[in-house]
Amino acid sequence: MNSRVDRKESQGNICSPSIENLQRAKELILQNQVVAMPTETVYGLAANALKDEAVKNIYSLKGRPLDNPLIVHIHKGYDIEKIVERPPQAFQKLLEKLTPGPITFILKSKGIVSPLVSAGLATVAVRIPQHTVAQEFLKVVDLPLAAPSANISTHTSPVTAQHVQDDFGAKIPLILDGGRCFYGLESTVCDITGAKPVILRSGYVTAEEIAAICGDCLLLEDTERAEELKKRSPGTRYKHYAPHCKTELFYLSQIKALKERAMQLQQENLSFAILLADSFATEFDGLKCYLLGKTDKEMAKNVYMHLRTAEHEVEYLLVLLPEGNSEILKAVQNRLKKACAIL
Ligand code: TXA
Ligand code: MG
Repeated sequence: MNSRVDRKESQGNICSPSIENLQRAKELILQNQVVAMPTETVYGLAANALKDEAVKNIYSLKGRPLDNPLIVHIHKGYDIEKIVERPPQAFQKLLEKLTPGPITFILKSKGIVSPLVSAGLATVAVRIPQHTVAQEFLKVVDLPLAAPSANISTHTSPVTAQHVQDDFGAKIPLILDGGRCFYGLESTVCDITGAKPVILRSGYVTAEEIAAICGDCLLLEDTERAEELKKRSPGTRYKHYAPHCKTELFYLSQIKALKERAMQLQQENLSFAILLADSFATEFDGLKCYLLGKTDKEMAKNVYMHLRTAEHEVEYLLVLLPEGNSEILKAVQNRLKKACAIL
């Protein structure tokens, strides 16, 4: 797993995940403070999930609405039944086969974690990340850690330690550096409290993979429970992932309009770039382009990285939405639409 550390021992509050720094981070957690940790999906802003005060610190640092619940992270040796009811037999295989990994399961709460974590719901989102630094840190702390993505609410999720620093500066005492996130897109959120698993947020682990393990899996929009579940996963209805530059979204059918817009910005001497799949790059020869990649997995990995780079480099980002029907690609499309305030 990706645990490359590409930063010096200390840069601002960015720290290498040495044993001493993991211990320092643990002490901060025990003081109900917040620490940023890498995961294989995106960086997380972690605090003790058992303490109201610690969890409150996460919400206030992020500026996150209190009705948007957090994911609890545990190490792979941690007894999940300390905090949630054992999932039905049929779903235990999902946990065995898919964790540690880029997936979060919604389970029935035992009421042990702070009620602020679940925003009043009877369920808790639990994730066992696979990044070696996250695993080591969770093991050293040996507590369930609530950790949303380590960005200011509504901003693009962070996929490097520097991104976290860019958002919070000295407001968080310590950022553990685990290099660039391997998957680069948040975990799949899968509710297993009903008769069938339901994907509430799509990500790298697909409904197909889940169905292959336990027989069936629904996407939120396909379920009769969609409205009820949407209410239960408020994260799905907030503005999200937006970079600080101006963004404009174009569908493939609007490529001509995109070219015209690019020409207009060029004439007005405004700085801009185009974010697009590799296969369309030749259409924009000579213009500044950020290439998402060739495959859906590459695009998932690159999408936040490019949004974060764009906000430092250009005033306008013109997004050509990559087309395709794979679930991972749909997850990328969903993030890009939200980043451009279309959803
Ligand atoms: O990959 C990830 O999941 C990252 C890393 C840090 O682990 N974390 C992350 O957290 O993306 P956050 O807070 O940005 O997104 C959590 C999502 C939100 O959409 C939230 O509504 C949903 O999970 N969620 C949390 N608890 C829930 C619950 N009990 N029921 C339904 N949805 C829940
Ligand atoms: Mg987030």
